[in-house]
Amino acid sequence: APTREAFRPAMHYASKDTWLNDPNGLIYYEGNYHLYYQNNPFGNVWGNMSWGHATSTNLITWTEQPVAIACDEYEDIFSGSVVYDQHNTSGLGDGTAAPLVAIYTSAYKENSQHAGIQAQSLAWSTDGGYTWSKYHGNPVLNRNSANFRDPKVFRYNGPAGAYWVMVAVEALDFTVVMYRSDDLKSWDYLSSFGPANATGGVWECPDLFPLPLDGNEDLIRWVLTVNLNPGGPNGGSAGQYFVGDFDGVTFRSETTVTEGDQDPARLTEYHWLDWGRDYYAAVSFSNVPDGCRLMMAWKNNWQYGNDIPTSPWRSPMSLVREVSLVTSEGTPHLTQQAVIDPTALTRTVAYTELDVDGIRSVAGGGAVQLIEVTFVPGSADEFGLVIRGNGNEGTRIGIRPGDGRLLVDRTVSGNTAFHSAFSSIDTAPLRAVDGAYSMRIFVDHCSVEIFAQDGEVTLTELIFPDPSSTGVSLYTTGGTAKVTSLRLTTLA
Ligand code: FRU
Repeated sequence: APTREAFRPAMHYASKDTWLNDPNGLIYYEGNYHLYYQNNPFGNVWGNMSWGHATSTNLITWTEQPVAIACDEYEDIFSGSVVYDQHNTSGLGDGTAAPLVAIYTSAYKENSQHAGIQAQSLAWSTDGGYTWSKYHGNPVLNRNSANFRDPKVFRYNGPAGAYWVMVAVEALDFTVVMYRSDDLKSWDYLSSFGPANATGGVWECPDLFPLPLDGNEDLIRWVLTVNLNPGGPNGGSAGQYFVGDFDGVTFRSETTVTEGDQDPARLTEYHWLDWGRDYYAAVSFSNVPDGCRLMMAWKNNWQYGNDIPTSPWRSPMSLVREVSLVTSEGTPHLTQQAVIDPTALTRTVAYTELDVDGIRSVAGGGAVQLIEVTFVPGSADEFGLVIRGNGNEGTRIGIRPGDGRLLVDRTVSGNTAFHSAFSSIDTAPLRAVDGAYSMRIFVDHCSVEIFAQDGEVTLTELIFPDPSSTGVSLYTTGGTAKVTSLRLTTLA
């Protein structure tokens, strides 16, 4: 029988008994990855927004820490970022330790002199990110706007000089605004970007970072990510990105499809961080060794986020993904790989050359596993897998080569009744590479994360199956397909 904690993830973070949403302040510092997050310390629905905190050394297993920055009678602590102020430019260091500085949105409450305003504020830590003090000069950047939020700060060091850059949003204007500072306390306006491409919902949680194109360090491109809610390709919350150049002042996109308001008919031409329903508020880590760009997202959707059937906690985070830029079909695209500690994976069942004509179950299924599969199409109009199955329920992951689409059908995935917007069949464009389709699928107690064609297309979804649903089958409809290789790897 399902236990109270049936859905608690094995390889994803969820808090012990509280609500969480956006990852905040992601940073690597002195051997630890720090995950701060939008948290309600007093309940498991959204409210009392504060920064919760967890730490990890392997990005898979996390230790919950005490609340880092708590809301008070004047402000909620909305999303933001943390930087390592190595040279103490802020003067917030204590003389021996350089500070970590958090830049967060103060969402001012009724009894504040700034009631109704969202502005940017600082807090600092000199003990490696465990305890935080608010800066007495808050807010440090106030546009007298009710929807100016989610500052992501990074150190720019380029032809224009060396300084801090902040990207934040004017959410209702579908605009990313950029500022610069020498000390994190006083900020000068640089430029703005948007509206462009998807504008079907407010813009939130932006990020801006450089990456080499096709692994070539001489070809640096800048990636501007921005989440929006609603307006995702399959409905509700999602993240899009633009690739272009940043000269220290202005971001110029090379991948804009539509300027101004979106063209709903062209939604699938925009660049999406993930095509699924449950990958939101994605943002990258600061200060990661070797210049890796690692991203993480809230694995939920504002359409039904407060209603998902988990208890006493609510909402998992995504796996951490390493992102890279590759040219495909003439334009730069992000590819994404899950960061998985290989020592966490054991017991692999491997198959080769399986002919599929109808439905064929395979041994080696489980509730928590990595499934790696390569299909070569035959005469079938659709082929794929049913995972987390028990004969009555299952999540269908299918490829329709004629339509060039990947789909996830969670209509009979388990508990779908908790909210009318949850049950769905969601799709993403997918093309064959050398005549084949490969997927790495990470399955956990309440989710599936698909990395197709070497991470070119990702699709992340929550599911709430019965714990007994551990079956995996292969299927085709309307003909045959071949599985050239299938590997099922169980988590330790
Ligand atoms: C995104 C968001 C942010 C805001 C935070 C509040 O999910 O709406 O824009 O800072 O959540 O919790």
